[in-house]
Amino acid sequence: MSLDGISKVQEANQVGHGGLISSLEEIQSKYGYLPEEALRELAEKTGRSLVDIYGVATFYRAFSLKPRGKHLISVCLGTACHVRGGPAIAEEVSRQLNVKPGDTTSDREFTLETVNCLGACALGPVIVVDGHYFPKVKTLMVKEILEKASAGLDLVEIETDQRVFPIEVSCSRCNHSLMDSRHLIDGQPVIRVTMSFGNRHGRMLLSSLYGSYNVASEYEIPPDTIVQMFCPHCHAELIGGAKCGECGALMVPMIVRGGGVVQICSRRGCKGHILDLGGATID
Ligand code: FES
Repeated sequence: MSLDGISKVQEANQVGHGGLISSLEEIQSKYGYLPEEALRELAEKTGRSLVDIYGVATFYRAFSLKPRGKHLISVCLGTACHVRGGPAIAEEVSRQLNVKPGDTTSDREFTLETVNCLGACALGPVIVVDGHYFPKVKTLMVKEILEKASAGLDLVEIETDQRVFPIEVSCSRCNHSLMDSRHLIDGQPVIRVTMSFGNRHGRMLLSSLYGSYNVASEYEIPPDTIVQMFCPHCHAELIGGAKCGECGALMVPMIVRGGGVVQICSRRGCKGHILDLGGATID
């Protein structure tokens, strides 16, 4: 096993934790998981201790130390989903696939995992399949969901679809990264913000694919609602002066890694968005 093709190894040595995550992401995307041999080689090349590397690899849910199946089924057993029947859903998936949580089917089609919260508690019980959220799942729906997963959910082809591409963003006030690798939407680490509308306050996860409008939130947001978004680190409201060209609501600005600003409309359901890279390019 060689890491020669892993371009971020050098970066891991130079920029610490963030660089290490980038290296792990590259290894995961090359092999589909993090083979022990590759982690040992990474430790050797970067001078980081293996314990350190395992600590990061096991902290983030997006990483796996075991080979994963073609489709990843995550059944939420967080409190909200638990009280609405999450355990029965997990049992039904387990029964139909004939695997325990944490295991992969012998044909390597499915990996089943149970998780603590997927950030969409109002929609529980929730299953996420390959980055697609299935809300308010009942045991009778499990068979159909697995069939849909086998047939291929309408996954966004990042490599070939020019209309969508992943971006990494940070807070426009404190510049802290808003990316969260512990949750995936569209198969990508999410943008995590805190949201507020009416008397509801909670977590909101946005797809980091520019051109995708998939979101998951702690509370169901009625269409047309204006949502205020806040940085989860400095708690400042993400707000600028610009108005949406589609509906006139205020835009929510975020800094794009590599240079520039992305702005999304604060109205639920509106697809107004602007990406101004200021002449810079995204890696
Ligand atoms: S508890 Fe299931 S999404 Fe939060």
